[in-house]
Amino acid sequence: MLRDIYNRPARDLRISVTDRCNFRCTSCMPLDKYVWIERQEILAYEEIARLARLFVSLGVEKIRLTGGEPLLRRGLERLVAQLAALAGLKDLCLTTNGALLTEKAAALRAAGLRRINVSLESLDPEKFRRITQRGELKRVLEGLSAAKNEGLAPIKLNAVIERGVNDDEILDLVEFARGNGFAIRFIEYMDVGNVNDWRPDKVFSKREILARIQSRYPLREAPREDPTAPAVDYEFADGGGEVGVIASVTEPFCSACTRVRLTAEGKLVTCLFAETGHDLKALLRGGAGDEELKQAITAAWSGRNDRYSEQRFTQIQSGSECQRKKIEMITLGG
Ligand code: GTP
Ligand code: 5AD
Ligand code: SF4
Ligand code: SF4
Repeated sequence: MLRDIYNRPARDLRISVTDRCNFRCTSCMPLDKYVWIERQEILAYEEIARLARLFVSLGVEKIRLTGGEPLLRRGLERLVAQLAALAGLKDLCLTTNGALLTEKAAALRAAGLRRINVSLESLDPEKFRRITQRGELKRVLEGLSAAKNEGLAPIKLNAVIERGVNDDEILDLVEFARGNGFAIRFIEYMDVGNVNDWRPDKVFSKREILARIQSRYPLREAPREDPTAPAVDYEFADGGGEVGVIASVTEPFCSACTRVRLTAEGKLVTCLFAETGHDLKALLRGGAGDEELKQAITAAWSGRNDRYSEQRFTQIQSGSECQRKKIEMITLGG
């Protein structure tokens, strides 16, 4: 099996199918400063499916589709169907902002998708609009209902918490999730990309998030199904479901990171905070055979020594700044 320099396998493949998005979340999106990937540079579904098959043959067990906003890519269900049929793949999931789920949930389910994660940072329509800059809360809530009605399960909500922006909504979000049978994970605000104006004091820490939840709902830590997953899970002591926290700032989890990313333009990226990727599309379109592609993937992963969140942690502790030019999150899919 494929191993990197720290002996981490490549088990989860996150595929960005487009860098386009119908939202402009302030936590992610560089507004006007971003140069969109040109259409002809975006991998075709057949190209993605071929690479996915090769990744699976090298040990990948789980595939997640992301964007930008993946549901903006026309006919995504065709890709879902191709991936769902891959022998050896144990889990297929989609991360979406939810705005197009009303239209897409049935087709995705029919194509073989079982579960989804949906970003939801606020339940207040005006604040939702401010955070996403063009999103409409009502559409996302409708989308969530549609997904539930189609039988997609579990549905997990992802809420990035930024201090002073939405930390006051943690309990409301918990209540909403419990009331609707959704799982929810709170995410510490990260320094993704180059322009979200991240500062350590904007991070609402896992400790603070848990304290806020426990003020109303006592929690107990749940047994970890997957020790490499970013979220640490808790169960409500009253049996009302589960809540997770993704604490990549205060409790970095790089040592167990098995995630490999493929951008919409066919670059293999070995870390969410990477500066560059490895171009697989050039090989793909240059007529490379499967073995040659597998060698390129193996070479990229074998040289992987990324542990950005751990380095950031050390730097924050010592009061120094982390400065590097990263690939934007909208290109990478979070
Ligand atoms: P599940 O399989 O449902 O547990 O999903 P997941 O947590 O792997 O995927 P999701 O796309 O829902 O990720 C949630 C958030 O976790 C992302 O938006 C990121 O903020 C964060 N995250 C995921 N992977 C990484 C990673 O490799 N490094 C860091 N630092 N953060 C990550
Ligand atoms: N820090 C952490 N997570 C973020 N996301 C967007 N911006 C940030 C950030 N600055 C999350 C979204 C979505 C996922 C793809 O990334 O909320 O759930
Ligand atoms: Fe928001 Fe996700 Fe779009 Fe980024 S990719 S702007 S986090 S919806
Ligand atoms: Fe993995 Fe990079 Fe995130 Fe660390 S910072 S967990 S190496 S993606």
